[in-house]
Amino acid sequence: MASIKELGERIASNSALVEKWLISKNAKMPSFEQDAEEEFPSTAGDAEIEVARLAILDDTNMLHDMLIGPGEVLRRICWGEFLPEMYAQAIDNSVQQCIYHFNFLKTIPLEGGATYKEISAKVGLSEPQVKAIVRQSAMNRVLRENSPDHVIHTASSALLLRNHAMMDWYGHCVEEMFPASAKIAEALEKYQGSTAAEDSAFCLAFNTKEPIYKFLEQHPDRQARFFGAMEGVGKDPGHSLQHVVNGYPWAELGNATIVGGSSGFMSVALAKAHPNLTKLVVQDYKHTIEEGAAQLPSELSGRVEFMAHNFFDPQPTTKADVYIMRHICHNWSTENCAKIIREIVPVMKPGSKILLIEVVVMPSNMEESSVAERYMRNVDVTMLQMLNTQERSEPEWREVVRAVDSCLELTRIFKPKGSWDSIIEISLK
Ligand SMILES: C[S@@+](CC[C@H](N)C(=O)[O-])C[C@H]1O[C@@H](n2cnc3c(N)ncnc32)[C@H](O)[C@@H]1O
Repeated sequence: MASIKELGERIASNSALVEKWLISKNAKMPSFEQDAEEEFPSTAGDAEIEVARLAILDDTNMLHDMLIGPGEVLRRICWGEFLPEMYAQAIDNSVQQCIYHFNFLKTIPLEGGATYKEISAKVGLSEPQVKAIVRQSAMNRVLRENSPDHVIHTASSALLLRNHAMMDWYGHCVEEMFPASAKIAEALEKYQGSTAAEDSAFCLAFNTKEPIYKFLEQHPDRQARFFGAMEGVGKDPGHSLQHVVNGYPWAELGNATIVGGSSGFMSVALAKAHPNLTKLVVQDYKHTIEEGAAQLPSELSGRVEFMAHNFFDPQPTTKADVYIMRHICHNWSTENCAKIIREIVPVMKPGSKILLIEVVVMPSNMEESSVAERYMRNVDVTMLQMLNTQERSEPEWREVVRAVDSCLELTRIFKPKGSWDSIIEISLK
């Protein structure tokens, strides 16, 4: 293991490299001021810089943890660590939940900010309560006190205000994932051995026997927010739709019909990039496709169609070239995945493909960076708490395919660079 001094020296030399590159690109220097760039500039095409950037992230994490010591690492995990994402810990999350629930962000103008007194009057909490919440939040760079009585936005809080999908994702994290996370140990103990979605921590937290997607169907406001949240997930560069758009040999298909899901944002991205994809059918629950249909760009109305469909029923679109399921199977047990995929098999034609766009879990320390690894581990546990299922390794994906039907085989796995997901191709033998 590198020493403190070695880590510090490596961070210094990589930082100099990255800063020089930013200057050469005329890029804005990263900051947390309101007018800062929302994301670190893309390093695509500059592999050496990406390696240096990821090394800095790894090394600074390691240096940080070495300097606080193992006991304090544990305390921070349980009491709130300054993680740069909303999968943070209890105190951080409870504070963000208050900010969302009481609509703090909207009470603070982007231009000029607000005093604690003004925020207090608008959110209906006392000034000391508002101060406690804002000052804790400021440690995570969401809002900032620029004088003892005055609060302004940071880049992170302004991003939430400006981007509805990011706000939906934030709301889903603090109002659905966070309560579920507090119930995970209870659920694992109570339902030992079960892989049923109704035995999840989410169901315990929301006192329901309806798995999350059925629950959302009965709560249209939450459902609409969930679909915004899924779009917000796409703001994460590791989840960019471009990984799907550019990560599969779509041109090989010639003129093709594609079946996809959700509110259609992926089908729209594919349609825009690949004119040879002549028909794109979007299938999901009724409310979801209705929302998607209402937002379809008019120039795509002849190519993109919407259809309410329960994927446990027989697949109605016959002989499509590709059936895409992005982030579907990770929500379900192997038995249920097999049921879902089995409904497609009878309508496939020779050459039809099923694409699963999913994480392929690797053993510890096998990912290219701790950022990628953190995502993979967090999403694995998120599936466990929300749906009582888990992400899968390559052998486990092969097992899913075997469980469907012996006429199918897993033919290729594409892992686009920088993508959290792989594209798993399944074909008829
Ligand atoms: C994690 S989201 C993935 C959404 C989208 N594919 C994406 O890439 O972001 C899971 C999707 O499965 C849909 N879903 C869940 N149960 C379903 C069912 N029985 N039939 C059809 N769609 C379903 C949900 O409505 C939701 O859109």
